[in-house]
Amino acid sequence: MIVLSAASELYPLVKTGGLADVAGALPAALAAQGVRMVSFVPGYPAVLTALAEAEVVHHFPELMGEPARILKGVAAGVEVLALDAPHLFNRAGNPYLGPDGRDWPDNAQRFAAFSSAAAMVARGLIAGFQPDLVHAHDWQAALTAAHMHYGGGPPAVVTIHNLAFQGLFPASVFPLLGLPPQAFAVEGVEYYGGLSFLKGGLATAAAITTVSPSYAEEILGPREGMGLDGLLRARESVLTGILNGIDTRIWDPASDPLIAQSYTAKSLARRSANRKALARRFNLKADDGLLVAVVSRFTAQKGIDLLAAAIAPLVRDGVSFALLGSGERGLEEALAREASAQPGRVGLITGYDEALSHVVQAGADAILVPSRFEPCGLTQMYGLRYGALPIVARVGGLADTVIDANEAALAAGVATGFQHAPESADALIHAVRRAQALHRRGGPWQALQKNAMAADVSWARSAARYAALYSSLSKV
Ligand code: ADP
Ligand code: GLC
Repeated sequence: MIVLSAASELYPLVKTGGLADVAGALPAALAAQGVRMVSFVPGYPAVLTALAEAEVVHHFPELMGEPARILKGVAAGVEVLALDAPHLFNRAGNPYLGPDGRDWPDNAQRFAAFSSAAAMVARGLIAGFQPDLVHAHDWQAALTAAHMHYGGGPPAVVTIHNLAFQGLFPASVFPLLGLPPQAFAVEGVEYYGGLSFLKGGLATAAAITTVSPSYAEEILGPREGMGLDGLLRARESVLTGILNGIDTRIWDPASDPLIAQSYTAKSLARRSANRKALARRFNLKADDGLLVAVVSRFTAQKGIDLLAAAIAPLVRDGVSFALLGSGERGLEEALAREASAQPGRVGLITGYDEALSHVVQAGADAILVPSRFEPCGLTQMYGLRYGALPIVARVGGLADTVIDANEAALAAGVATGFQHAPESADALIHAVRRAQALHRRGGPWQALQKNAMAADVSWARSAARYAALYSSLSKV
């Protein structure tokens, strides 16, 4: 079976979050299931550099007003088709935001063009390549499903990675989409008089998935449904939650070249060199207290305001923090205030640093993910794999991947971390204190680390579920 993936990010070429990791890892995971996945991506500068030797397989005389091409090649070990449209994608930096930190004003044009070009590829109109199915990710690619629905083509799967981003635009953009007039309807892309790219995809897809079973349930209600819960309830029979995995070749403490000292569950003592390296990078005083890390976008979704409120009381209890991330200015400032109030105990590195994120997972005692909602979350899974025990909010994929160290789980010897509910600073503080109490006891902490490192966070199970879904939809 041949599947065309359409996604606006691809690790390691273009990444703003977990979508890139997932799009980058799925092709290899699915190959093991007999699925050939070819990835359609926008031709951002990093993609074009990686495809310097690529073949041109299609010329558009005009796409959103200017000529464009489709390139075919291999980038980062993945079969790639790239939409080389310099007027839309030849922009360095964040793929969605301009230098002023705001959405590019032509994002509707950019991702409408991306989806309509993906639809042409899906229909087999380019380079004699005929996919059996198209798998579109998030709002940037979701309209591909609408093209399949209204104009014909193979079945389309749409995956929701985050319902908070819906691709909302004014109705005046509709003529640019290349969809027939009847698509501007309640059953199509119309949304409260305007357009929603994501809604258009969800309304028309042959199947909808999201990235954890818990989030699949949560989005059927008004709180996490974010205005789309009614539509999702109507489409519940085609909605499933398939948990993300992680790329266990890239995230492997036994062979990770980015960390100071490799280790396994059998040689946990070797981890201390990584803890020292982490403390040095974040200017933390050396001590034996619980060292908690965060690697995150700094947004309200991620509960960073709750974290900021919890830091001072926890530092008084002897906890230290290593914080890596960037995002909303108010949250960056709140964390910066905590860091300057607690020198040596709270280290903050503002920015995006993939290599440093490995150092953090290898050295921290615990990784904190206090999200208000979390479709899946990957950092807690990196934490499991690296023995940095996850302390997480009991929501979405966090609830599905971490086994709380409650009495029953401790007695059964299956706990892998700590959960807190509700999403509040008090509950978060309580969970960190539970972790701290166990950490002081040494032996039981190591038992949890061993459980965590033995947890199956690979793609194997979930890739098999995607493969089964694809075969149920396509005749191949
Ligand atoms: P989301 O996609 O909602 O941001 P995920 O947990 O699914 O959340 O994925 C986030 C990804 O981005 C992970 O791979 C994480 O390690 C990475 N990441 C987030 N912030 C940073 C940062 N400041 N530096 C390096 N990596 C980061
Ligand atoms: C989104 C979600 C995150 C998920 C990632 C990959 O960015 O916020 O929870 O892990 O997509 O699916």
